[in-house]
Amino acid sequence: MKISSKQIITPALKILEVKKLYKSYTQANFGRLKVIDDINFEIDKGETVAITGQSGSGKTTLMALLAGLDAPDSGEIFIDGNNLNKMNEDALAKFRAQNIGIIFQQFHLMPHLSAIENISLPLEILKAEDIEERANIALKQVGLEQRREHLPRELSGGECQRVAIARAIVVKPTILLADEPTGNLDTKTGEQVSSILFDLVTASGMTLIVVTHNMELARRCQKILKLDSGKFK
Ligand SMILES: Nc1ncnc2c1ncn2[C@@H]1O[C@H](COP(=O)(O)OP(=O)(O)OP(=O)(O)O)[C@@H](O)[C@H]1O
Ligand SMILES: [Mg+2]
Repeated sequence: MKISSKQIITPALKILEVKKLYKSYTQANFGRLKVIDDINFEIDKGETVAITGQSGSGKTTLMALLAGLDAPDSGEIFIDGNNLNKMNEDALAKFRAQNIGIIFQQFHLMPHLSAIENISLPLEILKAEDIEERANIALKQVGLEQRREHLPRELSGGECQRVAIARAIVVKPTILLADEPTGNLDTKTGEQVSSILFDLVTASGMTLIVVTHNMELARRCQKILKLDSGKFK
């Protein structure tokens, strides 16, 4: 049988699948607060997705669930076919270190470690090979060769976030999660940091989910999802 080029369809690889996800918190005097209320979505490999929504709409809660840092009340999260919620603590910690890069608004660098030591840390945890070489490459990718030995308190906010980006990408994660990565930076520095982030993501074909109030940043993404009353609207 002759196959025309139209019939050869390569299915997009689903890198993230979220099914029937629920998360609520018990709040003193207010009973239970439903924060994530039956969320279902899929993301393809290499896709860039922005999550927006009002303060308190559950964006950070959702990111913590996707990162395996918190457990849902119910529902399933698959990353590259692996069910996060079926892993024991050790397996999840290892999976997270290898596959999930996380960037926070407040940088969360280790204060007593230099830029290069912060970037090396995920590789040390994974007992990876060529740690020095790989960390130096990541440092260069964020343009901080001149700040190699500086401690976080000797770096500007923008530089700290660049170190945090390098630390998140140094393991070449399957998926990169960023929660308001420019939220603590002024407009110009935020713009520089998002350019560095997007250049790296595009060049490597990494999958990115970024929570942001910054519409400039959101518009750089292929898809924008808005969280409202625990659901994507
Ligand atoms: N550990 C917790 N215990 C109880 N309630 C919580 C907890 N974490 C978050 N919440 C509540 O859940 C809701 C969603 O919080 P979340 O931090 O996910 O919002 P957000 O969309 O990230 O907001 P922001 O834009 O301000 O960062 C809020 O009402 C918050 O008070
Ligand atoms: Mg938040």
